[in-house]
Amino acid sequence: MINVNKNFSLLENNYIFTEVNQRRDKYQQENKDKKLLQLGVGDVSLPLPKKMVKIMQKELKKQCGKKHFRGYPPENGYDFLKNAIVDYYKRRNVILQKDEIFISNGAGCDVGNLLDLFGLNKVVIQNPTYPAYYDSSIIAGNEIILLSATKENNYILSPDELEFDSYLIYLCSPNNPTGATFDYASLKKWVDFANKTKSIIIFDCAYESFIEDNCPHFIYEIEGAKNCAIEIASFSKTAGFTGIRCSYSVFPKNLNIDGLNLNSMWNRRQCTKFNGVPYFIQKGACYALSSDGILECKKNIITYKENAFLIKQCLKEQKYDVLDTNNSPYVWFKCPNNMSSWEYFDYLLNEYQIVGIPGIGFGSGGENYFRFSGFAKREDIVEAIKRIKTKKIPPNYEVNPKS
Ligand code: MLT
Repeated sequence: MINVNKNFSLLENNYIFTEVNQRRDKYQQENKDKKLLQLGVGDVSLPLPKKMVKIMQKELKKQCGKKHFRGYPPENGYDFLKNAIVDYYKRRNVILQKDEIFISNGAGCDVGNLLDLFGLNKVVIQNPTYPAYYDSSIIAGNEIILLSATKENNYILSPDELEFDSYLIYLCSPNNPTGATFDYASLKKWVDFANKTKSIIIFDCAYESFIEDNCPHFIYEIEGAKNCAIEIASFSKTAGFTGIRCSYSVFPKNLNIDGLNLNSMWNRRQCTKFNGVPYFIQKGACYALSSDGILECKKNIITYKENAFLIKQCLKEQKYDVLDTNNSPYVWFKCPNNMSSWEYFDYLLNEYQIVGIPGIGFGSGGENYFRFSGFAKREDIVEAIKRIKTKKIPPNYEVNPKS
């Protein structure tokens, strides 16, 4: 008999976003006349800028001519996109080399795939967390150390509670799901800790373009980070690319462990296991980083942030316990009436026809919490607010038995 990876049996049956979508679809199937409002999975709802699509169309069209036809792209991306990323980082005084940047087809993939570079380790993960860090680490067989992000620590993790040891450390700022964002001092603490303990930080900055406060967008804004951190970035939320697929990771040249270089190892891994992102998509991503593209994409980001603001205001008016942040498309709040996350999910679905994400889906630290996404359509946000305002939960509401 061959060996299978038994670590899979340690995972929940379904990935949380799949589970939510399945329950949503089942409800819709059974209630065809009901209009569901989608504030669940953080998927963009606004169309791409016209000019960006034109650029991609033009490039794709060239593929039917002999002269411009292209086969495999370079595994790690075209220079024109890497140069655009170098310039994008320069705006925040971060100097990257082109060959420290690896173009990929999704931050979610890189988050898990990069575990190929490591043996078994202690992995530090926030609780609640973006579930891909946790699931990928479990699949790889790592020991997981959960650090709680709570009201008491303002949802900002500190390395102070860790023993002096080497860890892989996943950090996400602005955070998914809570929206909390590291300031310079709190992120510097992590960089100093990682350098002292020879740990590696995997810094997910997928939501950096939503930052409004004076906070680091990239971990390399912190002195010493190039000696201890990998950064994962994405065009999904910044440029509306959830359906187009393009992201990148940064592996500084001087990340060496045990005589091995992480930049070379990732290059080797990607060349073997990844065939690159299509040329026309990289052209679209490149436009997103041009000055016109940044402005165009910003319009959508502003709308998403306004959505989050509107729903947050409504919840605050209704006396919900909401985490107030300026830097995130997500709204993190405590379920009313001491409901569990799934009880509130069911209540919202059945009584309000609103879909959100139960906090427990982000780990045990999310129990009794809930997340709404500002990536929803504006009309869904407005309607959700109306429903929440007009249809109050009765104080003695009996929660449904768990489905
Ligand atoms: C979310 O809802 O958190 C998003 O789907 C995250 C992702 O990009 O996978």
